[in-house]
Amino acid sequence: MSISDKVHGNLAKSSWIRRMFEEGNALKQRYGEESVFDLTLGNPVIEPPDEFKRELKRLVDNPIPGMHRYMANAGYPETRAAVAAQLSVETGINFTMNDIVMTCGAAGALNVVLKTILNEGDEVIIFAPYFVEYLSYIDNHGGVARIVPADEQFIPGLDALEAAIGARTKAIIINSPNNPTGVVYNEDFIHRLGELLLRKEAQYGTEIYLISDEAYRKIIYDGLKYPTVWPHYPQSIVLTSHSKDLSLPGERIGYIAVHPDCRQRKELVDGLIFCNRTLGYVNAPALMQHIVRHLQGVTVSVAEYQQKRDFLYGRLIKMGYSMVKPQGAFYMFPKSPLEDDVAFVRELQQWQVLTVPGSGFGSPGYFRISYCVDDRTLEGCLAGFGNAAQKFNLG
Ligand SMILES: Cc1ncc(COP(=O)(O)O)c(C=O)c1O
Repeated sequence: MSISDKVHGNLAKSSWIRRMFEEGNALKQRYGEESVFDLTLGNPVIEPPDEFKRELKRLVDNPIPGMHRYMANAGYPETRAAVAAQLSVETGINFTMNDIVMTCGAAGALNVVLKTILNEGDEVIIFAPYFVEYLSYIDNHGGVARIVPADEQFIPGLDALEAAIGARTKAIIINSPNNPTGVVYNEDFIHRLGELLLRKEAQYGTEIYLISDEAYRKIIYDGLKYPTVWPHYPQSIVLTSHSKDLSLPGERIGYIAVHPDCRQRKELVDGLIFCNRTLGYVNAPALMQHIVRHLQGVTVSVAEYQQKRDFLYGRLIKMGYSMVKPQGAFYMFPKSPLEDDVAFVRELQQWQVLTVPGSGFGSPGYFRISYCVDDRTLEGCLAGFGNAAQKFNLG
């Protein structure tokens, strides 16, 4: 065999999201694009804000000499300073450019962080349901994923977490607003999490990082204020991107922010910069860094996503589906009417509605809907959901 056994095995296991996406493409060929309602991917339908186009045009019309060259591996100082300034305003904590590393999206950021902190065999705790790529990213850098289930409201269980933390625990990854549930963790939860981690560090004499994946931080509904990790735990590393908040997932631009009070902060940041280089990212895309420097306070229309949530959530609840109401991101994670979530997703496929089984996120018995789609898709999928609700006697 010409490729590694591990990659060969992973190809065979290919993710449910990818599998559903491919099956969806086959359905689209059979029935035509217009008749298939694809709710599988978190690929935002909303176009980037006008400010983005304005900055792009300004750069094209007024190019900066050398603007396409290599740069320091952490990114442009001006861009890092702009990110730090915005974070300081949002959090009341004093960030400087030395706390920030620009990355190729949140995915690049996660890989850089894990590469920097993990020794072979170190454990990283994640909560089910989880963003499935965490498993690959942890494995990429010699880590071992330990999965702790969240409760019925999709809040991580702190007792279960306490039992899972041991001497090899190097990091915990949290993700709020959450993919796939849309849940936002409240301040009290984060505070108790911080207390628990401090206690466990003291118990084992170890360092445990809290990695907060905030890819959806700006996409939050009902006037909620985002509870950050910063006041609650100094060994915090936050990562995010502009894939969702500026609708730029193809442009691969994001950043890592390290708590200014983190122990050995300088060595940690030096490690992040080294890994950004040696993982082969070298630096985050230059053009995007020139642009997002001016867009730190700008976000796509969150009201538009909230309207989509309200529309679909309201209709599905009326049909008898049961779910925790999402407060952010652009996913919902209803209970599967059949115990076998894969079988239910296949039922929906018969009505040309494409979703992803909860099994793909480590939580069988549910299914994920991605509603960052156009209104035609949202309206069109209702008939299929209605048929399935009737067939399985919901409501
Ligand atoms: C929870 C979560 N983290 C990270 C990412 C990766 O984001 P990016 O496109 O910025 O790399 C995603 C993308 O969907 C995500 O859902």
